[in-house]
This record gives sequence, C-alpha cells and structure tokens, in this order.
Amino acid sequence: MTATAPPRTYRVKSFGCQMNVYDGERMAELLEREGIAPAADGEDADLVVLNTCHIREKATEKVFSDIGRLRRDDGTSPLIAVAGCVAQAEGAEILRRSKSVSLVVGPQVYHRLPEMVAAAALGARPVDTDMPLETKFGALPARRKVGPSAFLTVQEGCDKFCTYCVVPYTRGAEVSRGFADLVAEAERLVEAGAKEITLLGQNVNAWRDADGRGLEKLIEALALIPGLARIRYTTSHPNDMTEGLIEAHRDVAKLMPFLHLPVQSGSDRVLKAMNRSHTAASYLAVLDKVRSARADVALSGDFIVGFPGETEAEFAQTVRLIEQVGYAQCFSFKYSPRPGTPAATMDGQIATEVMDERLQRLQAAINTAQLAFNRQAVGKTCTVLVERKGKYPGQWLGKTPWLQSAHFGGEAAIGDLVQVELLEAMGNSLAASLLQKVPAQA
Ligand code: SAH
Ligand code: SF4
Ligand code: F3S
Repeated sequence: MTATAPPRTYRVKSFGCQMNVYDGERMAELLEREGIAPAADGEDADLVVLNTCHIREKATEKVFSDIGRLRRDDGTSPLIAVAGCVAQAEGAEILRRSKSVSLVVGPQVYHRLPEMVAAAALGARPVDTDMPLETKFGALPARRKVGPSAFLTVQEGCDKFCTYCVVPYTRGAEVSRGFADLVAEAERLVEAGAKEITLLGQNVNAWRDADGRGLEKLIEALALIPGLARIRYTTSHPNDMTEGLIEAHRDVAKLMPFLHLPVQSGSDRVLKAMNRSHTAASYLAVLDKVRSARADVALSGDFIVGFPGETEAEFAQTVRLIEQVGYAQCFSFKYSPRPGTPAATMDGQIATEVMDERLQRLQAAINTAQLAFNRQAVGKTCTVLVERKGKYPGQWLGKTPWLQSAHFGGEAAIGDLVQVELLEAMGNSLAASLLQKVPAQA
C-alpha cells in the first residue's frame, strides 16, 4: 500500500447485531475526536469502516462484496478498515484476500483505531485482534448527541459455546462492565438526548458486577435517572433469567414489558445437540414465570431451522412451540455451518431446499403469531416514544412499550413520549391516533 493523505471524512457501516451498532457509534466518536468528520450523504468518504458480522456465511460474504463496491471509477479506494467479528475471526487473512483493505481491527481493541488509521495512511497495513484484559471502554471518548432510543453495551462475550455459534470465538469470554461506569454512561446518554436505553450483551442477563449485583440492580439504578423514561435489555439466555430480574418486570415501571429470549428449537434432542443446556419445557417454565410477574409482557425469540440431524418431527416441535407461546415477534434463520464450530462437522447436514421449505413454514407460523399479537393490542391506549418521521407527510413513527412500531399523525416531535390509541393492526406495525403528549417524567 502506498501512503495517502490522512483521512478527513469517514463513514461507518455496521452489520449484524445491536452490539455492533453500539461499537459503530463508539468508533465514530473516536474518529471525530481526531477531527475526522462524517462524510455527507451521497459523498465518498476518505475512510470507510466496515463493522462486520460473522454469525452466518451470508453476513461474512457481504464484507467482501462491499469492499469490491468501494472501488472508485478511477481504480482507487478509500482507506478501508475491517472491524467487527469477521476481523476477529479472519484477521490478517482479510489483507491477503483483499488488496484494498488498509487495516483490520477486532471488536475488543477498536479504541486503537485512530493510531491504526494514522499508520494505514502512511502505507502500513496494521492488524490488531488482541483480546486484552483491560477493556476498551475506559479509553473511549464521552458520548455525543444520540437519538431518543440509545444502546448501552453492559456485557460482552459469551461462555455458552452453543455448537453452531461463532460468538464465543469472535467476542471472547463473558465480561461485565462495572456498575458505576455504566450508570455514568447512562447519565451521559440521557444528557445527550436518550429517553430510552437498551442494555446490550450477548448474554445480557448474565451481567454481574464485582460485588455480585445482577442486572436487576443495574436496571433499578438506571430507573432513578431523571429524564430516562424507558429501559430495555437484550439478548438474554433462558438459563440466566434470575428471580430478581423476573421480579424487576413487576416492580420497575420504567422496565418495558418486553423480553427477547431465544430458544432456537422446540426439540429437546436438537437443543442438546446445540449445547443449549435447557429444554423446551424449562424454557416455557421461564416464560410462565415472567408472565406471572408481568402479565402483558411481549415475547420474542430466535430460531434456527435445519440444524444438523433435525428431522421433520423435530422441526414440527419448533412450529408447535411457536404456536404455543404466542410470540410478539421472532427472528428465524437457516442453519449456517461456521468454520471452527462443532456443528459444522456433525453428521446429517440438511439440504438447502429442505431448510428453505422449513424456514417458510416457520415464518408462516411466526407471521400468524405476530399478527395475532398486534390484533389483541388494538383498542389499547399506551405510550409511544417518537423516534422518526414516517413515510408520509405529517406521519410519526415510534415504538409501543411492547416494541411494536406504531405510526400516527398530529402535533409531535422526535423524542416526545406521547399517549396514543392503537387503531389497526398490520403484520409489522400498528396505526394509532395521537391522544396527548406525556409530560416529562422524573
Ligand atoms: N446471544 C444470543 C444471540 C446470538 S446470535 C443468544 O444466545 O441467543 C443471534 C442469533 O443468530 C442466535 O440466537 C441464533 O438464532 C442465530 N445464529 C447463531 N449462529 C447461527 C448459525 N451458525 N446459523 C444460523 N443461525 C445462527
Ligand atoms: Fe452464541 Fe449460544 Fe452464546 Fe448465544 S448463547 S452467543 S447462541 S454461543
Ligand atoms: Fe454478528 Fe458478532 Fe454480533 S458475529 S451477531 S456482529 S456478536
């Protein structure tokens, strides 16, 4: 690589989960601290950060097609930084595979991005995929302006080693950030405009501080921040739903009635082969407990179809579980064999056509559940946090407490909490009518 002028503008493109979105925002803040400005819409950036996801093959391949697309008509490319989970998994291999990549930085060391960018501008091609003991959070700049709904990573990594999953390898072991650090960042987010904070972690409900306090204690502390109206958390593991956290759904008004609790399959044999260490029945028992703490809680899950060896009868158990739970929403995926994971070399890999067909049937069950959930909400009055303008003039979009998208017209502004009546259910959203603005909450 030859030397180029130091970049003046940047663009960060994040793929994958919400933790990557959070990391992308933090990298943007780091670059701005160095005087590098966001590129204007439609304009080329001098530096492009591809903040990648390794979870499924398609996600990984996207990186390389994106790199190709960044090449300009004159044959030059911007400085390209590959960050995120593909960076961690493939490291220097990315430099070999793509000549236009300038640097590779893993998810645990992106606080070093500015010095790596400076080195890359001088013609080096630095690679850093360390997983240092000292976390990056202490080295990051203060939060800048944020939207009404903000993310806050409280826990990273995963010790669960589900047999299909790359996360324990790309993000490392479970690490919880400290209580005081998190309360301080949440306060900064609220000062910067957040009305809602979603606490993030690969296993967020396993968050535990050095004094042994669990996530519900953090939620209780954040609920005391004036101006913060709503708290959410994602993603949780069924085995880490503690009594305390379940009770918080009953006791903490600012904790929204929503729980994303992936189960992956309705078959105990498949769950065992996945190393999920819970059964369908133990998962359902957790949901029952949460529902008795908070009757109106909306439930969400993740599902994988076509895990190696999955039979038609086992797949049917997954569909039945979906029908039984009455989910508000779900994410469903075709199994994707990932290099280095135990499931990738298991017998009984399922043909793509079979997976396609199962995914279709699964999604039909999910759509039915989702529409039923939205329909039962019609007629309810609830608060909506206005997040953005809608497609049509005068239309506003926001989320109900149950994380449904609601749209309505009338006098409102981004960041308002408004009371609406839910009028009509569609598959993915609800039409609502504005009743009144909710006064700022303590
Ligand atoms: N920590 C969370 C989420 C992990 S990744 C959890 O444990 O649930 C998000 C989702 O991607 C997973 O819940 C799973 O449904 C899906 N997923 C992970 N690895 C996959 C793979 N190899 N193929 C298909 N889907 C996968
Ligand atoms: Fe992956 Fe399982 Fe960990 Fe979730 S709990 S991140 S699916 S290994
Ligand atoms: Fe993807 Fe990494 Fe998140 S693999 S889902 S970006 S933790």
